Amino acid sequence: MTKDLEGSRILITGGAGFIGANLVEACLRRGAGRVAVLDCLTYAANPLSLAWARQQKAFAFHQADVVDLPACKKILAEVHPDWVFHLAAESHVDRSIEQPLPFVRTNVQGTASLLQASLLHWQALPQSSQDRFRFVHVSTDEVFGSLEQDGYFREDTPVAPRSPYAASKAASDHLVRAYGHTYGLPYSMTHCGNNFGPYQFPEKLIPLMILRALQGKSLPVYGQGINIRDWIQVEDHCQALLQVAARGRAGQAYVIGARNDRPNLEVVEEICEVVDRLGLTAPGVRQSRDLIRFVEDRPGHDFRYAIDPAKLERETGWRPQREFSQALHETVLWYQENQPWVEECEKSYAGQRLGLGLTSPGGKSS
Ligand code: NAD
Ligand code: DAU
Repeated sequence: MTKDLEGSRILITGGAGFIGANLVEACLRRGAGRVAVLDCLTYAANPLSLAWARQQKAFAFHQADVVDLPACKKILAEVHPDWVFHLAAESHVDRSIEQPLPFVRTNVQGTASLLQASLLHWQALPQSSQDRFRFVHVSTDEVFGSLEQDGYFREDTPVAPRSPYAASKAASDHLVRAYGHTYGLPYSMTHCGNNFGPYQFPEKLIPLMILRALQGKSLPVYGQGINIRDWIQVEDHCQALLQVAARGRAGQAYVIGARNDRPNLEVVEEICEVVDRLGLTAPGVRQSRDLIRFVEDRPGHDFRYAIDPAKLERETGWRPQREFSQALHETVLWYQENQPWVEECEKSYAGQRLGLGLTSPGGKSS
């Protein structure tokens, strides 16, 4: 893997977000020659996530909106990437329930602009560079909809998105396939499950529960906590993305998962156990699980996601390296030890419930 990356020039959109910042670090640590980020710094970006990267000579940051075609063209011309990893997106399902339109703008129109700029860049490359180029579109398993108790998402699972977020990602996937089919743009597409680990914005289940448990606040579990998600530590996801760029076939999709499908309640209870075992139980709380509260369900809540990553494993040799419980333990410690990073997030989000329905343009729950 290191050999594949040495000297490579890489553009990562959404690189100031959760997965993007982890991918930036993975690329720099593996000796990439140039790692550039294109990000417009929404609420979900945290400048502290790129603090280490900014100290590296190979790193460059471009503040730009992925919808802005001239800006995308300019950045591609400057970075001259071998690989583009497209992660910039509105990523939170609950926010898409409150306000769908920003998801259409960034996820659909933004992907269209980046594709257009990437195609023009690719068409102007000499043959040898054209052969090496890859547009890696980072999609989600949510485009496949919801599973019942049995079965797994695979690459040929029919597309059936059910939230505005998932629908906008599925629309962007169609555009990527169309650019590949019509113009020959060499792309690979990935559909990963739920990530967790350092730098995840605390609107998502795992960091929200960790921070609220540490602060002695209630832990809001939607519905009965029986919905199932398939979890992967973010660094394992990043290694999978690099394997797809290096060894995946152009024009192919890969589902990414680490075979960790669990009900939400089980995940929240395990977070509580870790917090207590580490001696971090909040003052006045007997045990952290006493903080769990069952709250009104998410509208249209998908029941189960579960991934069969056999194609990725077979074709690229990727295997997840991190065991779920150990990674969860390390994640609790990370949030406890990175208070300045947490405070930066709290400037834009105070941990309130999101996603019970459409909101006013001002963003307040109706
Ligand atoms: P995130 O919300 O943490 O970060 C998104 C980043 O994109 C932020 O830095 C934000 O500033 C940037 N961005 C948003 N709109 C932009 C715009 N118009 N122009 C430029 N930059 C913009 O998201 P994440 O959780 O890191 O997810 C990254 C990608 O991976 C997304 O495409 C998401 O759909 C996909 N994905 C996420 C998960 C997960 O569990 N988090 C799983 C599978 C796939
Ligand atoms: O599956 C991949 C997707 O995973 C990504 O594409 C998305 O970008 C990412 O946000 C994530 O979507 P989810 O909706 O699954 O993640 P979230 O962390 O919001 O919720 C996980 C589960 O936990 C879900 O069943 C809803 C539930 N939940 C969530 C929150 C925030 C709760 O029970 N309580 C909560 O407070």
